Amino acid sequence: MAFPRNMIWRRYIVKSEVSALERLDKRLAATGKWSRREARDLIRAGRVQVDGLPCRSPEAKVAEDAPVAVDGAAVGPDRPVYLMLHKPAGVVSSTGEPGERTVLDLLGGEYQNIGLFPAGRLDKDTEGLLLLTNDGPLAHRLLAPKNHVDKVYYLEVDGVLDQGDAEAARQGIVLAGGYQCLPAVLEPISGSSAYITLREGKYHQIKRMMAALGKPVTYLKRIRFGPLELDERLPKGGWRALTGLELEAIFRH
Ligand code: URA
Repeated sequence: MAFPRNMIWRRYIVKSEVSALERLDKRLAATGKWSRREARDLIRAGRVQVDGLPCRSPEAKVAEDAPVAVDGAAVGPDRPVYLMLHKPAGVVSSTGEPGERTVLDLLGGEYQNIGLFPAGRLDKDTEGLLLLTNDGPLAHRLLAPKNHVDKVYYLEVDGVLDQGDAEAARQGIVLAGGYQCLPAVLEPISGSSAYITLREGKYHQIKRMMAALGKPVTYLKRIRFGPLELDERLPKGGWRALTGLELEAIFRH
């Protein structure tokens, strides 16, 4: 049954008195499932309902607490989103820091207000793989020290890394403050570059480990986080949703 448009609008206006309004296409795109353009097409095709009523107007203003559904199935900002970001140097791994550009600033507007946060941190000058999600329980599991999720980094140092350094890492490098790191796998590549695999994530850990070896880090990039591998096709600052296989892998991990 076609629904009179003015009636739908009346319902929105009533809602507007009590809560913030948002365009319907933006609201759908904020779920991370559809682009703004796809959302508009869905709406115009009559597949979207607001408050149980069909709405064909992408620009309709919807109360933030109004239930929205596509083909009868509820959608909302609670829908979990999982993004892989190729973090560039110069942005901070937080959701908001005065005076700083954050990893969230790199994302499209539809991802700004859906509770995304980085699962784990990289230093401002570190590049590479960062998982952004609004799935708190999953992030918690991946970051819990007891779960020992491996992280692999490519690093360059001022100095030459050799098998002696690899052995020191295997034994557990003792940091300046006296903390003995868990055993790590350091694989020198050539001269000043190496891969390192860590099972823990202390503050500035690799920089402090290399400092303890007398070989300060000059470049650092995370290339793996648990089962997730950085998609090298992503340019620095680029991001994409995790694939089905990647999602399966992190949930199985
Ligand atoms: N270790 C560091 O020192 N910095 C990072 O960003 C990550 C690991």
